Amino acid sequence: MPTIAIVGAGSGLGQSIAKTFGSNGFSVALVSRTQSKLDALAAELGQAGIDAAGFAADVMDRPSLVDASARIKQRFGTVDVLEYSPAPHTPVPGITMASPLDVTVENIQPQLDYYLYGGITAAQQVLPDMLERGSGTLLFTTGAASLNPTQAAPEFANIAIAGAALRSWVLKLHQVTDGTGVYAAHVPLSVWIGTGGPETQPDTIAQHYWDLYTKRDGAEHHYNTF
Ligand SMILES: NC(=O)c1ccc[n+]([C@@H]2O[C@H](COP(=O)([O-])OP(=O)(O)OC[C@H]3O[C@@H](n4cnc5c(N)ncnc54)[C@H](OP(=O)(O)O)[C@@H]3O)[C@@H](O)[C@H]2O)c1
Repeated sequence: MPTIAIVGAGSGLGQSIAKTFGSNGFSVALVSRTQSKLDALAAELGQAGIDAAGFAADVMDRPSLVDASARIKQRFGTVDVLEYSPAPHTPVPGITMASPLDVTVENIQPQLDYYLYGGITAAQQVLPDMLERGSGTLLFTTGAASLNPTQAAPEFANIAIAGAALRSWVLKLHQVTDGTGVYAAHVPLSVWIGTGGPETQPDTIAQHYWDLYTKRDGAEHHYNTF
């Protein structure tokens, strides 16, 4: 049975991606900081007949991410799909938003830890195995600002910088993995999830991820509802 690891798995998009892949025969490894929330999400997936388990880790604490990845491998074996999408819905210590005039090295660094270094660290835990096998998928989610900084409010400046850095790395990763059997793509979401019509609902957006996984087409897929 193939396995998807969702890093930054909450009750919104994370759980919808889990349901979508799980109902297509995947086991699901859920990663976020809060074990009790992960256990509740895994139980809900279990009720739908999906083999799921939670592995607490903080993307800002890279050793914890390495440790969670080892535990995922122990429980599920090889990871076939990595999806990276943490979102600071509850406060993440050190993370603040800043407009361009307020951007400092000090308030960009935690955003880089969160998006770029966390994403690279998560990928490094599965990529060597994927390259050796010649198969695997890596999907990295960000918001609109990583693609088009002016699409977001000025206060998103330091987030936009970090998201753009992750985007840049993912597009380069796509370039070097092309033809190896490993597929890497960036998924910028221009949407306020769950706040409007069907196109904003996490279950609809999750279907987009399934299409990416099955079609493996291109380095970037902009989901745009704006
Ligand atoms: N929500 C939106 O409107 C929106 C808009 C554009 C793009 N996006 C993108 O969509 C993805 C998130 O989807 P969602 O908003 O529906 O979120 P979600 O899947 O409901 O939840 C994301 C989860 O990330 C976890 N998280 C936060 N900080 C973390 C950390 N330091 N380490 C590990 N996990 C962490 C949180 O759990 P804990 O707090 O328990 O750690 C949270 O439950 C992100 O890639 C985001 O950039 C969202």
